[in-house]
Amino acid sequence: MTQTWLVTGGAGFIGGNFILQQVLDKKRNIINLDKLTYAGNLDTLAQLDNNENYTFVQGDIGDNDLVAKLIEKHQPDAIVNFAAESHVDRSIDAPDDFITTNILGTFNLLKHALNYYKSLTNDKKNNFRFLHVSTDEVYGSLGDTGLFTETTPYSPNSPYSASKASSDHLVRAYHHTYGLPVLTTNCSNNYGPFQFPEKLIPLIITKALNFEPLPVYGDGKNVRDWLYVEDHCSAIETVINKGKVGEVYNVGGNEEKQNIQVVHALCDILDELRPVAGKCRRDLVTYVTDRPGHDQRYAIDSSKLQNQLDWSPSESFNSGIRKTVQWYLDNKKWSDRVLDGSYAGQRLGQDRDREV
Ligand code: NAD
Ligand code: DAU
Repeated sequence: MTQTWLVTGGAGFIGGNFILQQVLDKKRNIINLDKLTYAGNLDTLAQLDNNENYTFVQGDIGDNDLVAKLIEKHQPDAIVNFAAESHVDRSIDAPDDFITTNILGTFNLLKHALNYYKSLTNDKKNNFRFLHVSTDEVYGSLGDTGLFTETTPYSPNSPYSASKASSDHLVRAYHHTYGLPVLTTNCSNNYGPFQFPEKLIPLIITKALNFEPLPVYGDGKNVRDWLYVEDHCSAIETVINKGKVGEVYNVGGNEEKQNIQVVHALCDILDELRPVAGKCRRDLVTYVTDRPGHDQRYAIDSSKLQNQLDWSPSESFNSGIRKTVQWYLDNKKWSDRVLDGSYAGQRLGQDRDREV
């Protein structure tokens, strides 16, 4: 029988890619609960407008009545929680929404998921899953060597990562205390189609296309591990279907890069695909004041997921980044409409002394 999954935050970057995969490729029945903050964009899901396996509900994961009614009405086989405030720089400028959505919103979902779970027949209970999508940033920052594993102690450094860490702990507690069948994934930096252009890769693509200065924080040597978004989505599906209840799985691409290497790669691909005589986009790189509390290095050990659940990424950084640039070139209308609103590429999260 077709499964029904309640997905939260599905109008965002990763949730949007996940829903497209699930509805178009897997024919799953998806209910998308999304508040449509600045980061939510229904254009991403326009091709599902008349699809009978897809339902959109605008609303807040923190809304008590709405979440209760939605779960009661749709009787989901799984709840997949993507909904969050996701941008570190914004969490420096204005942490409040991060606390409200990431912590209290997740708490509200857990409460209603548990009430619902308790009401299920044994058969449905055995199959029900609550998957919480989290981040490698909860582990803090690494030195030159080492990798985050699932047992690395939490050490979050930004209001964003602290709020995600808090939600991870609540998810864990709901399993340990009440027996809710939860799973948590902690993933590294995603990139790919439909990413809001406040994040490094789409921001640089957009600015480099227009020959604007390319802002690189600090010395550009901070390291991130990069994973193509569709690989993250397939990892989440794998964990829902095969993960051991109560466990945590790290997800990563094994593609560590310094930020400056990422920016140079984007400049070179754009110079090749959209050349302008006498101009080299690497010349646009501009080193700017560092992000306050900027984590130096993230690197992830995803061997548990690879060995125990037989998942591996399909894209390398080189193949994924090329596909991503091509997607932004082919879908300029999507980015132009996104940049029409409150965000137009300005610097965020610069001033730790402002009043918050
Ligand atoms: P995003 O900012 O692109 O999208 C977030 C979505 O959540 C938006 O559609 C927004 O409207 C919605 N939302 C926000 N507050 C809400 C609320 N109160 N109720 C309902 N919907 C709400 O985020 P993303 O990059 O797609 O990240 C999705 C999840 O994955 C987040 O939980 C994030 O922490 C996690 N994550 C992201 C990355 C990454 O590199 N982007 C990596 C690892 C984990
Ligand atoms: O590691 C997973 C996390 O990756 C997710 O949990 C977050 O939701 C997601 O936003 C991302 O966080 P980062 O802070 O790593 O992503 P961001 O794209 O903001 O920045 C990537 C790196 O690039 C970081 O070291 C800061 C730097 N940077 C960023 C911007 C926007 C710049 O140098 N210049 C920029 O203009």
